Amino acid sequence: MSEAYWEQRYQTHDMPWEKGAPSPGLVDFLAAQRTLPGETVCVPGCGTGHDVREWAKAGFRAYGYDLAPSAIQLSVERTRAAGLRAEFRRADFLSDEPPFPFDWVFEHTLFCAIQPDERDLYTRAVLRWLKPGGHYLAVNYLIPDTDGPPFGTTRDELWQRFSPHFDLSAEWVPRSYPNRTGLELMLWWRRRRR
Ligand SMILES: C[S@@+](CC[C@H](N)C(=O)[O-])C[C@H]1O[C@@H](n2cnc3c(N)ncnc32)[C@H](O)[C@@H]1O
Repeated sequence: MSEAYWEQRYQTHDMPWEKGAPSPGLVDFLAAQRTLPGETVCVPGCGTGHDVREWAKAGFRAYGYDLAPSAIQLSVERTRAAGLRAEFRRADFLSDEPPFPFDWVFEHTLFCAIQPDERDLYTRAVLRWLKPGGHYLAVNYLIPDTDGPPFGTTRDELWQRFSPHFDLSAEWVPRSYPNRTGLELMLWWRRRRR
């Protein structure tokens, strides 16, 4: 999907993914961890920045990236209004270079938003934006839909795509927004050093 497609969805307020709050699975994850390794986190496809602000509240240097200029503008405004610090930039996660390799990449409804034939590019992008030894935390949306976005996936597909490069640290079914209950699976991966 192009920048124009996503920008139009923001301009026309056609944003059913916008829940006005961070991913409940992320909120619970950050609340449950006393200390996490690393300092920097990249949230690609950050939308209006709820998840970025949650990482910032947890003490991370948090960076949000999105293809749609309006998403970045809303993220900046809402973060300022919340009195928090985070960086937001317009970027294409699939093709752009990171400013530096991150300690964490956090996925939440970007994988399901891109075209399925771009998923090889997505895996390569995670490897490009993440440090060797870094952590890839994903809230995966396990729906059957083929007429997205959102486009569905399965645990098997995720295992095939990521297990060649990452070791799985943990997996669990998270607390979810009401209309996604039981449809999400969190996978916490650690990138192999080589
Ligand atoms: C379904 S929305 C999810 C937004 C946010 N993660 C949330 O859950 O509220 C998908 C977001 O990914 C952005 N996006 C799509 N393709 C992208 C790409 N290649 N690089 C960066 N952002 C992208 C869209 O503009 C949109 O804001």
